[in-house]
Amino acid sequence: METAHSAVKTTRLDEYRSPAYRVDEVRLDVDIHDGVTTVSSELVLQRHADAAGVSSMTFNGEGLSLRSLALDGVVLNEASYRYEAGLLTVDGLPERCTLSSVVDIEPEKNTALEGLYLSKGMYCTQCEAEGFRHITFFPDRPDVLSRFTTTVRADRARFPLLLSNGNPVASGEDGERHWVTWEDPFPKPCYLFALVAGDLACLEDTFNTMSGREVALRLYAEHRDLDKLDHAMESLKQAMRWDEQTYGREYDLDIYMIVAVSHFNMGAMENKGLNIFNTSCVLAHPATTTDAGFQRVESVVAHEYFHNWSGNRVTCRDWFQLSLKEGFTVFRDQEFSADMNSAAVKRVEDVDFLVNHQFPEDQGPMAHPVRPSEYQKIDNFYTLTIYEKGAEIVRMQYHLLGAEGFRKATDLYFERFDGQAVTCDDFVACMEEVSGLDLSKFKRWYSQAGTPVLSVTATQDEHGYSLNFRQQTPPTPGQAEKLPVVIPVRIALLDRDGEPVILDEQGRREVVLIVDQQEQGFVFPGVSGVTPSLLRGFSAPVVLQHDYQDGQLEHLLAHDSDGYCRWAASRELYFAALDRLVKGEGGTANVAQAAEQEANQLAAVLDQVIARAGEDAAQAALLLALPSEVALGDRHVPLDPGRVHVAHRSLRRALGHALQSQWLELSESLLATELQMDGVAMGRRQLRNLALEYLAAGDHPEAERIAVELFELPLCMSEELGALRTLVHYQLPGAAQALAQFEKRWKDEALVMDQWFSVQASAGGTDQVERVRGLLQHPAFDWATPNRVRSVVGAFAGSNPAAFHAEDGSGYRLFAEMLAKVDALNPQIAARIANAAARLPRLKAELQGKLRAELESVKKGASANLSEVLGRVLSN
Ligand code: TRP
Ligand code: ZN
Repeated sequence: METAHSAVKTTRLDEYRSPAYRVDEVRLDVDIHDGVTTVSSELVLQRHADAAGVSSMTFNGEGLSLRSLALDGVVLNEASYRYEAGLLTVDGLPERCTLSSVVDIEPEKNTALEGLYLSKGMYCTQCEAEGFRHITFFPDRPDVLSRFTTTVRADRARFPLLLSNGNPVASGEDGERHWVTWEDPFPKPCYLFALVAGDLACLEDTFNTMSGREVALRLYAEHRDLDKLDHAMESLKQAMRWDEQTYGREYDLDIYMIVAVSHFNMGAMENKGLNIFNTSCVLAHPATTTDAGFQRVESVVAHEYFHNWSGNRVTCRDWFQLSLKEGFTVFRDQEFSADMNSAAVKRVEDVDFLVNHQFPEDQGPMAHPVRPSEYQKIDNFYTLTIYEKGAEIVRMQYHLLGAEGFRKATDLYFERFDGQAVTCDDFVACMEEVSGLDLSKFKRWYSQAGTPVLSVTATQDEHGYSLNFRQQTPPTPGQAEKLPVVIPVRIALLDRDGEPVILDEQGRREVVLIVDQQEQGFVFPGVSGVTPSLLRGFSAPVVLQHDYQDGQLEHLLAHDSDGYCRWAASRELYFAALDRLVKGEGGTANVAQAAEQEANQLAAVLDQVIARAGEDAAQAALLLALPSEVALGDRHVPLDPGRVHVAHRSLRRALGHALQSQWLELSESLLATELQMDGVAMGRRQLRNLALEYLAAGDHPEAERIAVELFELPLCMSEELGALRTLVHYQLPGAAQALAQFEKRWKDEALVMDQWFSVQASAGGTDQVERVRGLLQHPAFDWATPNRVRSVVGAFAGSNPAAFHAEDGSGYRLFAEMLAKVDALNPQIAARIANAAARLPRLKAELQGKLRAELESVKKGASANLSEVLGRVLSN
């Protein structure tokens, strides 16, 4: 065993050096026994041409018990190598040689879930980003690409299935044990290595690729979950077809496997030919999975599949380039889902997610560029900024080049860099090369953190109508000064009937204005009397500020043909009302009364949305949903979460009341008599669940009856959970009984029980802290299962601001206790949950002091992962 633990250190982009040796071949033998697994490895090393004279090499290795080390078959004595602080250094290496090692590891004790670990009796791996070093010695960095051959050995009866990347090439039996050898012909970085040993059921199908090859598709899960794999299989086949048609990308191996595991730190992992998925992102059945869950499975299955090209065939040079694969792949999965379902709805959902979650990240102590310049633990940089903002940056390039140009650029990218580890600059260079555009200024999107604020003023004079833009990116940690970025602003100008007017000589009614200066103006001669429809389709990830004139937002909400702009108008209207309530403006000190006035103001335009709900129920649901309490809080500094809670609850209640007959009508008229799982049916369920919540919020006497009826005889989990949520969140009399009944029905379905926990942990109210604490005592609560931890701790810290920020500090105390508990088992999950504390600098002073004290005490014993996040939060 190594002597010391690796110290916290900062890795910097400008210190990147290419490795001295390549690893051309890796031969692994993983011998699994109870309590200890022995990993033998042979690495065929080849010195790089430009590293002449170098003869030593370092290999990462964390927590490995080294049994032996040999160079070209000769056992090395202890003078020729050092293993300390997570690094094995070997000296005296010739230009080409084979380094063999034998190490012991203990997957049974691995609760951090990186490297090889045990999940419900199944062995599995997670190597991204730096998990492989927990399995064997290796230069654990994405720019070392090797061909892997892997032999897995285990007890035959308990582990009939032995999987790794690529194709099975040999197998055999050995008494009670057996072994299988897998060979992956494609060179890959070690973060894409995977191995599974278990007893699993398989759903099998085939896919014929565009060049006529047949690929075996195998989805594995626990035997009891075999009936929950059909949706993932359909999604996989659709994703494979879509990538052929949209990007010309074909699958390259003969087998594609997905394995579902219950213990997983993230959503899923794109290991070459052997994806490993969190059960929550692959299992789906109408009885146990919500509609949102179905959509998530579709998009995550597609996301991991798309990585086969954007990530695996062309990979990242270093982890600073993470968004090269993640931003691009998210863009690809978003477009896939848009094509499979309603594109307008999908766009609004994606923007909603970005502005509610990534924007706050960009405004807090964790803000970082899409291509960061330094990190301590790379695990902490799998962020919304890398994924979601990264996708927006790719989307802007897509629009700048147009569909055809973009496709030419990606063809060039995939062809030129196939089998290589490259950078974000390489990606953009392909965009420039095919289009002739100069994107050097555009690239500031990669290096500059923070969300640009774009203020627009409109003026009307004898020359016509003008839009004047001013952009400013606020300072972020480590980046005080900001330069202007290139902001494509797609606009239309709507006349009194809501029709876009002609904007230029070409007769266009929609144009993209490129704002790349700090201040810039555009004139539309001869235009007057219009309402501006700005940032259509959310053409850039910016905060848009514009003082709309009276009635303009209502006009946009009622008439704009752009789904995003309609939705943005609805947000502006809700936030304006909510802000007045938070600030106590509006003429009355009584919040309930003020909220009634606000609701009456909003009622007319919302009634129009409801009247048109039949056209697209999902879109109506998005327009009618109030922004979240957390999103409202993010608009107010210093933040007083108690006031925000009251304002939010009051408006919800007043809207419930003001439109009660409409909510009642929607709750009843949208009831389906038979189950359908298409987009239309899902949209109707979404709208009905929303209507039911408003009905309950407005204390309508029928709310409980409708919720209970739905809960008793649901057609699917979306209905059942929607009813349960309404009962619990509005504390209706039937809540306790429904919770008990739900638990009885679903106690053996872990993913459903996660929902049961999370509905309760997110039930808002300052008096809810003890209730959440009670959930931790429930026999089914388990600190070692990330999904369960997220369902309570994540829901509490992320979706229950009133309890989390309870005035007496009890929420912070509970949060700190939870963090310490989780961190002792799983630092990645603890660090992720700790992000909920990033709003600390915005809090009102009394709360800030309380939260700070709790976090400081947790930080004392914290892991490197958690301490990086807490350090950033506390440094403000
Ligand atoms: N690459 C994975 C994705 O598809 C992300 C991922 C899965 C991951 N598991 C992880 C990242 C564990 C860090 C740690 O987005
Ligand atoms: Zn990904």
